[in-house]
Amino acid sequence: MNEKKASNQMWGGRFASGPAAIMEAINASIGFDRKLYAEDIRGSIAHSEMLAQTGIITAADQQKIAHGLNTILSEIEAGKFEFSKKLEDIHMNVESRLAELIGPAAGRLHTARSRNDQVAVDFRLWVKAELTRTAEALKGLIAAFLVRAEEHAATVMPGFTHLPTAQPVTFGHHCMAYVETFGRDLSRVRDAIERLAESPHGAAALAGTGFPIDRHMTAAALGFREPTRNSIDSVSDRDYALELLAVAAICATHLSRLAEEIVIWSTPQFGFVRLSDSYSTGSSIMPQKKNPDAAELVRAKTGRVNGHLVGLLTVMKGLPLAYSKDMQEDKEAVFDAAETLDLMLAAMTGMVGDMTINTDAMKKAAGSGYSTATDLADWLVREAGLPFRDAHHVTGRAVAMAEARKLRLEKLSLDDLKTLHPAIDDRVFSVLSVANSVKSRTSFGGTAPAEVRKQIRYWNKRLPKA
Ligand code: ARG
Repeated sequence: MNEKKASNQMWGGRFASGPAAIMEAINASIGFDRKLYAEDIRGSIAHSEMLAQTGIITAADQQKIAHGLNTILSEIEAGKFEFSKKLEDIHMNVESRLAELIGPAAGRLHTARSRNDQVAVDFRLWVKAELTRTAEALKGLIAAFLVRAEEHAATVMPGFTHLPTAQPVTFGHHCMAYVETFGRDLSRVRDAIERLAESPHGAAALAGTGFPIDRHMTAAALGFREPTRNSIDSVSDRDYALELLAVAAICATHLSRLAEEIVIWSTPQFGFVRLSDSYSTGSSIMPQKKNPDAAELVRAKTGRVNGHLVGLLTVMKGLPLAYSKDMQEDKEAVFDAAETLDLMLAAMTGMVGDMTINTDAMKKAAGSGYSTATDLADWLVREAGLPFRDAHHVTGRAVAMAEARKLRLEKLSLDDLKTLHPAIDDRVFSVLSVANSVKSRTSFGGTAPAEVRKQIRYWNKRLPKA
């Protein structure tokens, strides 16, 4: 009798004694899946309503169940609920408390369902809500970039390839590059949400159920478009969790590149931006230092998010259909990646909005490194009819000449330039200035301020609907 008491209340019928402490420790997920309490209760209420509607349970029992579940919700939200490791997970913690509150009617709630479809419902709802939050956070970041792009549509800076200066661009254009990047992340989030429109509720353990359930009804009640079409698949896959992690990993990787740029730009050597005190820290030993810690941590946390993606892919690989307990390992990865990404997005949005742009330093750097050499080559093609390869060669000699004389390209005299090619005349100087170089790049998506402003207008219109 005593032994029987120690076994699990929910499925303990066939066990002679309670699980060993180690088994309990490895088996229990309540430490983390308690996060799903609201989704679990919502799913159970929808399930009970459907059971009553279809005559599987009585309306009276359903009312008791719904009332009890709402009480549990308040208890959890008030911090008054006692979670028990012995009860393994959120599903059994809730159901056991329901039995305490309403007695035998609680036992009818689990008719025509299994924890396998229950957890699939709960986690899908959680992932969907989280992705919706991520979409809003991404929109905030994009909006912050649009403001900076507008302010600096004509601010010149060096554009880099391999990090040395390549060609002058505008800071507004560089900001708009990130608008496109995070815009794609946003569309990936939307795609993932779209695939979460199907409800696995009613798949039960894996085979469906003989009870006359109405899966369309529960799908609608839980905000899904329709029920899933295969009960085995419904409880087998965690690809929506993988999608959240994949989207998070790509977005985190993008954020880490931006973080790295901020780290570089905020060094005294570059001096392109100054971070506000809110997003930097001092050094405990070197009083002159102001460190971009928030950017560095965004860069670093990417490792953690990417790790979670690889972690869950590895959990899922090789699992036979349908449910295996391995899948319980999906939650910590997703919870931590989501929380980390939310923080990264918030920190980056703050930094982008707050940082001071040093337009003088950007301008000075934009003209260094013979950044307008391509403009000279293009001029030779346009005005002197040279094939681009020849123009490239002549320009290379002009750069070598300027380098030897320690001059900027536009400081070479016309006589000097003429020795390189007789067709060069003084009109060439206008294309050698950084401002004109930038202004000339009017191709669609190019760096000309007019073009940048066009793309800003496009995004300002598109973003509210995104
Ligand atoms: N805690 C479990 C999980 O997260 C719930 C499903 C348990 N199902 C089972 N057949 N053991 O996966």
